[in-house]
Amino acid sequence: MSDLFAPLYPQHLATVRERADRALALGGYDHLLVAAGTPPGKFLDDQDYPFVANPHFRHWLPLTDAPGSWIAYTPGSKPKLVFVQPRDYWHVVPAAPHGYWVEHFDIVIVRSAAEAIAQLPAGRRAVIAAACPVTDGVEANNPPAVLDYLHWHRSYKTPYELALMREASRIGTRAHRAAEAAFRAGESEFGIHMAYLAAAKQIDAELPYASIVALNEHGAVLHYTHFDRTPPAASRSFLIDAGASAAGYASDITRTYASPHAGEFQALIDSVDAAQRGFAAKVRAGQSYPELHIHAHHVLAGVLREHGFLRMSAESAIESGVTSAFFPHGLGHPIGLQVHDVAGFQQGERGGSIARPDGHPYLRMTRVLEPGMVVTIEPGLYFIDMLLAELRDKPVAADIDWAKVDHFRQYGGIRIEDDVACTDGEPENLTRDAFGMP
Ligand code: GLY
Ligand code: MN
Ligand code: MN
Repeated sequence: MSDLFAPLYPQHLATVRERADRALALGGYDHLLVAAGTPPGKFLDDQDYPFVANPHFRHWLPLTDAPGSWIAYTPGSKPKLVFVQPRDYWHVVPAAPHGYWVEHFDIVIVRSAAEAIAQLPAGRRAVIAAACPVTDGVEANNPPAVLDYLHWHRSYKTPYELALMREASRIGTRAHRAAEAAFRAGESEFGIHMAYLAAAKQIDAELPYASIVALNEHGAVLHYTHFDRTPPAASRSFLIDAGASAAGYASDITRTYASPHAGEFQALIDSVDAAQRGFAAKVRAGQSYPELHIHAHHVLAGVLREHGFLRMSAESAIESGVTSAFFPHGLGHPIGLQVHDVAGFQQGERGGSIARPDGHPYLRMTRVLEPGMVVTIEPGLYFIDMLLAELRDKPVAADIDWAKVDHFRQYGGIRIEDDVACTDGEPENLTRDAFGMP
């Protein structure tokens, strides 16, 4: 697999270095220091929470298991990796760096986090690290001028990053297929989750986010991360939102399925799926993402009308908040080193923020799409008791077929989510392409 990434890495690193040069110049710094970080410890315990390396660290190299390590970069010099490999017979010690990227770094191996600090250059340092003290001798300052510049440019993925995101999609879709089979076999949510992990060959802590595995009504809980251990009497519907990781890059994928006895729900899934494909086809340079989100409300209002849930026009369904009761989240978000990647609201490389449209508080992306960006497209329709109860008290309730709505509560909801790359021409749908692979 590394054959695929190795030829692309030198250009990626050159791009990361160029961006760092410019960010340091803007902030007035001599060195960029990036901490991998350390796992947070549990209160009054000798156990740690799972370690997740700083995304800035993962941007430089495909190293995800390197607690305490640092990257030190000084413009004009080869970047240095200070790699912590403790003397420890209690835990598995991180393997010495190896692979296609090591020749591009000066690598110093040390035995402790404190020794690593001693290897960092002195001077005007931009230190990118989690806000808590990393260890004595170095303080995170996370200069806004440096971070704004780096975050803005992280929106534009290099060919190497796109290759890793295709791989994350391939792993995720393989696991989604196993999860669908487990649903069809009548497994519990827990059993489906186990089938997903086994097919992905990743443990929970390695996934980019906590998987949502929801049968029947549970699909109406947007972030349902509870796993029932016993199967329901009948599995009518299945919503799974689960991703995978590849060398620190994320995929974020949602599919919804109906049992063969739930033809009416399957018909609604098919309509949302067709709508979703239409939105994904609009991931093109120059497309405003918030306008695409509003467009999605119009199209989904049409779907609700066609299926007999609503009698009002799409315009009045949007104005009166009806579509927001059925589709109460944003159309999607940037994705990359983090599942909800940085700079979704950023105005430019010097920072600033683009506000969300009024009435859409959960949208996570307000920028205009450009080649190199990767975003999710994840429309949904849900039957959420709390939001439907609020709707029932409004005058517009008279134009809703409540018997039909109530009947669909047993299915929970629908979300279809793909990761889509904006290019100079046709969008590249990383998710659908991967579902098409063996
Ligand atoms: N899985 C989180 C999201 O779709 O944004
Ligand atoms: Mn998402
Ligand atoms: Mn998702």
